[in-house]
This record gives sequence, structure tokens and C-alpha cells, in this order.
Amino acid sequence: MKTRIFRGGRGTVALFGWICAVGVLFPVSSANAHGVSTGGLETGKKIYRMNCAICHGTGGRGDGVGSRRLKSPTPDFTRPGFWKGKSDAYLFHLISNGIGDMPAWSDRLTPGQITDVLHYIRSLPDPAPENRQPPSR
Ligand code: HEC
Repeated sequence: MKTRIFRGGRGTVALFGWICAVGVLFPVSSANAHGVSTGGLETGKKIYRMNCAICHGTGGRGDGVGSRRLKSPTPDFTRPGFWKGKSDAYLFHLISNGIGDMPAWSDRLTPGQITDVLHYIRSLPDPAPENRQPPSR
């Protein structure tokens, strides 16, 4: 007889709790909580808006209200060449574990969600019109 150990239950519960918490704190009408695995740029954008824009700004310029209280400046993701030399593996690690004033996300987002949001922030400096954000204020 083999003993099976089920792993991942805790993570799922934590994730569900987080999605509910986000839904309560930021009632975004378009937010549907099913985007768990990699869902492309649209999903990445929703994850970004719900979790990251508070500091990094809706357009990724590092001008979110949350950034004003921080000691270290929030980087401008839209600066041309900002992502140059930064590998996906590095960024995935950084988003998962946090850096400086930036919190770790590995306990709140699934690896799939981190990948989605990572692809989205990488797309921000893209000059393609559909990836250009109008100024949010
Ligand atoms: C509480 C404010 C805050 C939130 C929320 C936040 N960040 Fe950050 N983030 C920062 C700050 C401040 C830095 C700069 C840290 C440093 O260099 O000391 C940073 C840095 C980064 C960097 C590093 C860029 C580089 O220099 O290589 C990435 C990538 C990043 N954030 C992605 C995200 C993503 C994705 C989310 C949402 C899941 C997020 N951040 C949420 C404050 C925040």
C-alpha cells in the first residue's frame, strides 16, 4: 500500500482567499476570478491592475499612489530598454520573492499568474498602439 500525500491544497485555499480579498478590496467589474493558469496578456493585465498598479501605476510608469510612501523609487516599466538583459527567470524569481519595498507574490499568485503578469509588464514599452496605455489620470 502506498501512502499518497496530497500537496497544493493549502496553496489553492490561500489563492482562493486572496482572490476573494481582492474582490472585496478592489471591486473591478471586469475581474473574473478564474484566470488561474496562463491566460495571455488580457489576464496578465487584470492581474497587474489588481495587484501591481497601486505602486507601479496603471500604465507601468511607477507613478501609482502606493509608490509615494516607499523609500526606494518604483521603476518605470515603459522606459525603452528597461527590460533589456532581464531574463524571464530572473523576473519570475524577483516577482515571486519580492525586492526591497516590493512584496513577495508567490503566496498570493500562482506561477501561471506570475507568468501572465510578467508577460504583460514586458509588453508595456511596446510601441504597438494596442499596447499603449492612455494616461490614466
Ligand atoms: C507596494 C508597492 C508595490 C507593489 C504592490 C508591487 N511592486 Fe513591483 N516594485 C516596487 C518597488 C518599490 C520596486 C523597486 C524595488 C527596488 O529596486 O528596491 C519594484 C520592482 C519591481 C520589479 C523589478 C524591476 C527591475 O528593476 O528589475 C518588477 C519586475 C516588479 N516590481 C513587478 C511587480 C509586479 C508584477 C507586481 C504585481 C504582482 C508588483 N511589482 C507589485 C513596488 C511594488
